Amino acid sequence: MALSINPLLTLVFILSTTTLIQSHPSILLPHSQPVTISVADYGAIGDGVQYDTVPIQSAIDACSSAGGGRVIFPSGKKYLTKTLFLKSGVVLEVQKNATVLGGTQLEDYPMEQDRWYVILAEDAEDVGMTGGGVIDGQGLRFVTRFDERKNVMVSWNETGACLGDECRPRLVGFVRCRNVKVWDIHLSEPAYWCLHLVQCDNTYIHDMSIYGDFNTPNNDGIDIDDSNNTIITRCNINTGDDAICPKTYDGPLYNLTATDSWIRTKSSGIKLGSASWFEFKGLLFNNITIVDSHRGLGLQIRDGGNVSNITFSNINITTRYYDPSWWGRAEPIYVTTCPRDNTSKTSTISDILFVNITATSENGVFLSGSKSGGLSNLKFSNVDLNYKRWTSYDDGLVDYRPGCQGLVERNSAGMMMEHIKGLEVENVNMRWLGDRARIWNNPLDFNPSTVHDISLLNFHSNSY
Ligand SMILES: *[C@@H]1O[C@H](CO)[C@@H](O)[C@H](O)[C@H]1NC(C)=O
Ligand SMILES: *[C@@H]1O[C@H](CO)[C@@H](O)[C@H](O)[C@H]1NC(C)=O
Ligand SMILES: *[C@@H]1O[C@H](CO)[C@@H](O)[C@H](O)[C@H]1NC(C)=O
Ligand SMILES: *[C@@H]1O[C@H](CO)[C@@H](O)[C@H](O)[C@H]1NC(C)=O
Ligand SMILES: *[C@@H]1O[C@H](CO)[C@@H](O)[C@H](O)[C@H]1NC(C)=O
Ligand SMILES: *[C@@H]1O[C@H](CO)[C@@H](O)[C@H](O)[C@H]1NC(C)=O
Ligand SMILES: *[C@@H]1O[C@H](CO)[C@@H](O)[C@H](O)[C@H]1NC(C)=O
Ligand SMILES: *[C@@H]1O[C@H](CO)[C@@H](O)[C@H](O)[C@H]1NC(C)=O
Ligand SMILES: *[C@@H]1O[C@H](CO)[C@@H](O)[C@H](O)[C@H]1NC(C)=O
Ligand SMILES: *[C@@H]1O[C@H](CO)[C@@H](O)[C@H](O)[C@H]1NC(C)=O
Repeated sequence: MALSINPLLTLVFILSTTTLIQSHPSILLPHSQPVTISVADYGAIGDGVQYDTVPIQSAIDACSSAGGGRVIFPSGKKYLTKTLFLKSGVVLEVQKNATVLGGTQLEDYPMEQDRWYVILAEDAEDVGMTGGGVIDGQGLRFVTRFDERKNVMVSWNETGACLGDECRPRLVGFVRCRNVKVWDIHLSEPAYWCLHLVQCDNTYIHDMSIYGDFNTPNNDGIDIDDSNNTIITRCNINTGDDAICPKTYDGPLYNLTATDSWIRTKSSGIKLGSASWFEFKGLLFNNITIVDSHRGLGLQIRDGGNVSNITFSNINITTRYYDPSWWGRAEPIYVTTCPRDNTSKTSTISDILFVNITATSENGVFLSGSKSGGLSNLKFSNVDLNYKRWTSYDDGLVDYRPGCQGLVERNSAGMMMEHIKGLEVENVNMRWLGDRARIWNNPLDFNPSTVHDISLLNFHSNSY
């Protein structure tokens, strides 16, 4: 076993040393040096056929017990495994041309459905993954019928551990973790959600890629639940379902920034919600390209959590119609709050800024509060909306899903507004391109009794 110094862990180590010395002046350190352990030294074979779960887990446990460091997956091999539990202090280094392959059998995963991940860190600190290699969920093996409209997937619902058609394992999960770092790694073909943060604090995700099948439902890119202080930058996410998706189930979500990234998805590029029981606050999305999506920027707030102080800047969006079996009707921007059902509390969305946005899309911007919960202080500044139709799907449906009014027959508009107080539109251009755009070239659609305090400054709408 070689010893090596890992700069990230060294930094963490120095920081924690300082804290320890301050809080416990009588304790003299040090911890041992960060260690580097190869899974091969623990007997991993890496033939992609035999399970390497035991050797890999032993290497992780040994590394963590030794005070932390790196667990190496050497190049040129495929390591098939059941769920691996990542422990405090450990960074997995999956080397270039090495692959961690997730199991495809129910017995490869723990009993509890909420722990179905290929790699799972629970209550851990200073953990991460890197190395240039691949973590592969073998998602295509979960497809029971390929369908260009939407694949039909295996669901392990017969166990009773989970209901419905979404019972499949996620790829990587960090649950109640602090100081998480994921970089220089490829996450591939998740069977369900790909990278999942739950109640984490201080997460840094950069220079990594996600690839999922375009027609597979629920293979979200990054789901961020109830977590604070998350940074995502320089990522490439190409997948079927929502690419970056903050949600709140059991606590608020504060301080998320996602920047300098490229996204391709059949669903939403960025989606807040729909799980939205607690507050979302202080989110920034900057310099992001979104292509081929069914919805560019979406706020689907349904459960009583309030949303405020969100900025979307320097974003280039392309949206198009797919099939109504996916949420989204080609809206470049979609901001909605309505009660999911008759038990839901009221949510509000306020102080949202869209600046320097360019979109080419088959449908318009949709801004909708509800009688019980409104939108307030929305601002659009330097926004270019190019509207054209290039697919043959029908329009005339407005999408309030999930819950609320569902799909409603109604003509589209360049910007549709309801239940808003305070809307500032400045330097906004709509261009209607091609003959088929003429059938819906109604720039603004609002009912004054539900929309108050609108200001339009330098707003243009032109047909070409
Ligand atoms: C990558 O690994 C595979 C085995 O998984 C091997 O056959 C191939 O030669 C390796 N390629 C490179 C460039 O190392
Ligand atoms: C189980 O999943 C299958 C496949 O998606 C689905 O068709 C079926 O309705 C589900 N059954 C139950 C009881 O949820
Ligand atoms: C996030 O911050 C809020 C406000 O300080 C706190 O209530 C919540 O517990 C924090 N969440 C996590 C996962 O640290
Ligand atoms: C959010 O970020 C601000 C500014 O960096 C910081 O003061 C605040 O404590 C953070 N909030 C949480 C919940 O960590
Ligand atoms: C925007 O992000 C791209 C990567 O997606 C990067 O190449 C480019 O330098 C960024 N632009 C700015 C102004 O930072
Ligand atoms: C809004 O969020 C940004 C992060 O995007 C933060 O820097 C800023 O301090 C927040 N502003 C307010 C008024 O909370
Ligand atoms: C949302 O804001 C309303 C007031 O506008 C407040 O009554 C409610 O408690 C807030 N919801 C949450 C989950 O904080
Ligand atoms: C937006 O992206 C498309 C390709 O996805 C590109 O053709 C177009 O030039 C970009 N627009 C801007 C303003 O960057
Ligand atoms: C709420 O919705 C449920 C299911 O849709 C229905 O059975 C129930 O009667 C409704 N309750 C009220 C108070 O409307
Ligand atoms: C918007 O774009 C303008 C012109 O390119 C630039 O000067 C400004 O800084 C941008 N604003 C933001 C918030 O990035």
